Amino acid sequence: PSGGRVFSGIQPTGVPHLGNYLGALESWVSLQNQYPSVLYSIVDLHAITQPQDQALLRVNILDMAASLLACGINPETSILFQQSQVSEHAELSWILGCLTSMPRLRHLPQWKMKSKQRNEGSVGLYTYPVLQAADILLYKSTHVPVGEDQVQHLELAQDLARIFNNAYGDFFPEPRALLSSTRKVKSLRDPSSKMSKSDPQKMATVNLTDSPDDIVLKIRRSVTDFTSEVTFDPEVRPGVSNLVLIHAAVAGCTVEEAVGWAKGLDTGKYKQLVADAVVQRLTPIREDIERLRGDRGHLERLLAHGAQRARELAAPVLKEVRHRVGF
Ligand code: ADP
Ligand code: NA
Repeated sequence: PSGGRVFSGIQPTGVPHLGNYLGALESWVSLQNQYPSVLYSIVDLHAITQPQDQALLRVNILDMAASLLACGINPETSILFQQSQVSEHAELSWILGCLTSMPRLRHLPQWKMKSKQRNEGSVGLYTYPVLQAADILLYKSTHVPVGEDQVQHLELAQDLARIFNNAYGDFFPEPRALLSSTRKVKSLRDPSSKMSKSDPQKMATVNLTDSPDDIVLKIRRSVTDFTSEVTFDPEVRPGVSNLVLIHAAVAGCTVEEAVGWAKGLDTGKYKQLVADAVVQRLTPIREDIERLRGDRGHLERLLAHGAQRARELAAPVLKEVRHRVGF
């Protein structure tokens, strides 16, 4: 109903997990019907801020494309593209980087987490949020779906829109966050941490291509507690509450309804119910991913088409930016 343009990006980590789906991709799909213009980018320029195997990166880009399509991203209504195929992202990032002070970036979460993990980080990792700002502003985007962990990065994009406008005249709209209302899906092995791709424990994460047997096994082995009744209390009972959240999310009902269905079941039986609901929800997605990833040529053509459409929007914006900067 409202005007505006949505932009969001996801790293090419291969097939997404259930947390990515429920926390981000599901809302990406519904935003397609709420905004007249929607762009989703597979952000491979961001991915190389960490070491990558080049053959695997290529596979992961196409697997992410297949997954987004299978989840319901419509490549006709949305512009689905690979970031590096639109070189304007890198060029605008440079220009915005020249408007960003070093201290402004030092405390942002990506740098603080990832640079610590590897003793020292690259310049690319340090300016990662500047590239994010460029991604958003390049399309004069107005709305950006983000997780809570990305709010500070979006604030940089807002600051840079303001800084640019002050220096060169009103041009960029200030993009607004569309915060995900879904709570974080937790690790099945350690419900105090979120479900994550980088979790070394294989049993902790449900991936969208997991077989029904794998899903049942992972949920059956998930960590709960010694109370057999099913209740929702994330502070005291994070494990079973995580299952209730997953159940409600995949079944499309409220937490209260999910707890109601669990009445009279012990956690063992409830796990089976949750697993069945997850399997039911993910089966068509898994089948679509498998089908789509079997035709790389088709995926490559789709991404090339998306990049062409993205460039049509980006080129005039960057042309005006160049002009204003004095090139
Ligand atoms: P990961 O931690 O697996 O690397 P990312 O950080 O790449 O995931 O996140 C990609 C998107 O998925 C982001 O929008 C993020 O907020 C969302 N997301 C990631 N993990 C979860 C989770 N466990 N629950 C809900 N949303 C998640
Ligand atoms: Na992450």
